[in-house]
Amino acid sequence: MSVTVRAFAKINLGLSIGPCREDGFHQLLTVYQTIGLHDVLRVSAGRGHGIEIRCNDPRVPRDDSNTCYRIVEKALHALKAKARIVINIEKSLPVQGGMGGASANAVATLLALERALKKNLLPEERLRIAAEVGSDLPLFLVGGTVLGIGRGEQVIALEDFPATPCVVVVPEIGVSTPRAFAEWDRKLTVPEASDRMIELSRTMSAWLGKSYSGAPFRRGRRENPLLELVRAGIKNDFEKVVFPEYPELSEVKNALERMGAKYASLSGSGSSLYGLFASKEAARKTAARLRKQGWMAYPTFTLTRQKYWRQIFD
Ligand code: C5P
Repeated sequence: MSVTVRAFAKINLGLSIGPCREDGFHQLLTVYQTIGLHDVLRVSAGRGHGIEIRCNDPRVPRDDSNTCYRIVEKALHALKAKARIVINIEKSLPVQGGMGGASANAVATLLALERALKKNLLPEERLRIAAEVGSDLPLFLVGGTVLGIGRGEQVIALEDFPATPCVVVVPEIGVSTPRAFAEWDRKLTVPEASDRMIELSRTMSAWLGKSYSGAPFRRGRRENPLLELVRAGIKNDFEKVVFPEYPELSEVKNALERMGAKYASLSGSGSSLYGLFASKEAARKTAARLRKQGWMAYPTFTLTRQKYWRQIFD
């Protein structure tokens, strides 16, 4: 049986990197937000054994270093299932782009695999397997606006905010996340990193308090809480290490702001950047202007949890 699934990307609305933990991972605090850009995967389960990965992008590994491969191995073991699995990835999202492409692919594969096998994992088992494969997989089991803590793998569903127009810029630069973390450690002392994390945590607490105590959001009545969050002064710590190495990325951020973005930022460790806009028209015009300047720029929307789950399967 064959199942087709969409793997939606994420952006980070603020990301604070804390000190390195004993296990080598960094303490993180971030708000993940799923967006409309996506890859399409087809997962087939047949007789036999083995895992085969096919992809239209030669940069995607086909072996057991691929997150899809690793999640299938773990899921088959947990489900006590034997099958030959073929995963076809139609790649549109950037590789090493900071939009969680590989992680989204793995979670989409897991969900499609369960359907293809007609077997279900328990929700907590699904979450455990996702977190074992990578820190930013579990968010894709929640979707919408998601608070990420721990090493990013502990996820808390936040209020489903309205779809917000955004522009995503995908520069042809791949940033290695482990290298960016290592650079962060070289640049900041432990007390400095801790202070920044406390600062972001206070900003987010104030925002969460306001969001949940105020009247529920209704179009036209109150400002979009997503824009309230970004106005509160959140930032992505990775900009501090990635922008000096790739100054052109900082120029893209400035361009997004100049062109009317309410907020612009690097996503994850980059190299993708995004801008949030007040209207669909403003986002569309900005993407067109950036494309004229030679950037790969895509207008899209943030994806609410409800839409995320509605649109995952065809
Ligand atoms: O969990 P994931 O496989 O995405 O992590 C890849 C690498 O990124 C880790 O091996 C680690 O070097 C780094 N990382 C980190 N702190 C995190 C998440 C990832 O240092 N919170």
